[in-house]
Parts: sequence; structure tokens; C-alpha cells
Amino acid sequence: MKNFFKKMLLIFIALLSFNCGSDDSTEPEPEPNPDTNPNPNKITTYNADVKTIMDAQCVRCHTDPPVEGAPFPLRTYAETIIGVNRDLVLRMTSTSINNVMPPSGRLPQETIDIILDWEADGFLEQ
Ligand code: HEC
Repeated sequence: MKNFFKKMLLIFIALLSFNCGSDDSTEPEPEPNPDTNPNPNKITTYNADVKTIMDAQCVRCHTDPPVEGAPFPLRTYAETIIGVNRDLVLRMTSTSINNVMPPSGRLPQETIDIILDWEADGFLEQ
């Protein structure tokens, strides 16, 4: 009888350590932090950095009047801030082809970083 309990105890300990091991391997990856400042040594502004991106990538549809189903223009600073309040940064950083902007696909990371830097610096106009 004593041996039986000893065996049960060993099995119990073995199960416990097995569980611990599998917990370690399923530790979640850290989420990317959207509030990081990709370029802390630079002040990114709409006039100097962001307008050219909007003109090249967005204004084709987000013009006035907007075309191809786009809901509002993105031609000026004021219009782009309206876009910011309607999730512009989330839409540009989205990894889902269902809601990324532009609809043709996520822009290169260097371009995304300029937008994230603009956000980190406070969406300045100039
Ligand atoms: C080919 C046309 C096209 C281009 C280019 C385009 N968009 Fe859009 N955009 C749309 C359409 C259509 C919608 C509405 C459907 C949707 O929300 O997906 C939209 C919606 C949005 C919205 C959400 C508006 C809301 O109120 O829900 C944002 C923000 C946005 N676009 C930003 C951008 C930015 C920033 C760019 C450039 C990087 C861009 N778009 C390029 C067509 C375009």
C-alpha cells in the first residue's frame, strides 16, 4: 500500500512538471506597441513628411468629391486630421487586406514608420 501511494505521488509530480513545461512554451508573444516612436531623433510633421504620402497613396480616391467609395478627402492637414479621428493610423497599419489603406495593400514599413512617428510627435502640421 505504501508503494502505491509513492507511485501515485511520483505520477502526480511528473504531471505537474509536464504542465509547467507546456506553460512556458505557450507564453504569448509580446504585442507590437502602436505608441512606439520609430524615430525619436526626428520631429515628423504633416507639411514636411506626411503630405507627400497622402498625395501619392490616398488622394487618388480621397479627393473632393471622393471617388471609388472613399468617404472623405485627404488633401489638406485639416482633412487628414479628420481621417486620423476616423482611424487613419489603424487603417494604414492594419495587417488585414480587408481593411488596410490603401486597399491595394499595406505600404512599406518605412512609410508606415513615418506615420507612426507623426503620431508619436503629436500629429503636428509644421
Ligand atoms: C482605391 C481607392 C482608395 C485609396 C487609394 C485609399 N482609400 Fe481609404 N478608403 C477607400 C474606401 C472605398 C473606403 C471606405 C470603405 C472602407 O472603410 O474600407 C476608405 C476608407 C478609409 C478610411 C476609413 C474612413 C471611415 O470613416 O471609416 C480611412 C481612415 C482611409 N480610408 C484612409 C486612407 C489612407 C490614409 C489612404 C492612403 C494611405 C487611403 N485611404 C487610400 C478607398 C481608398
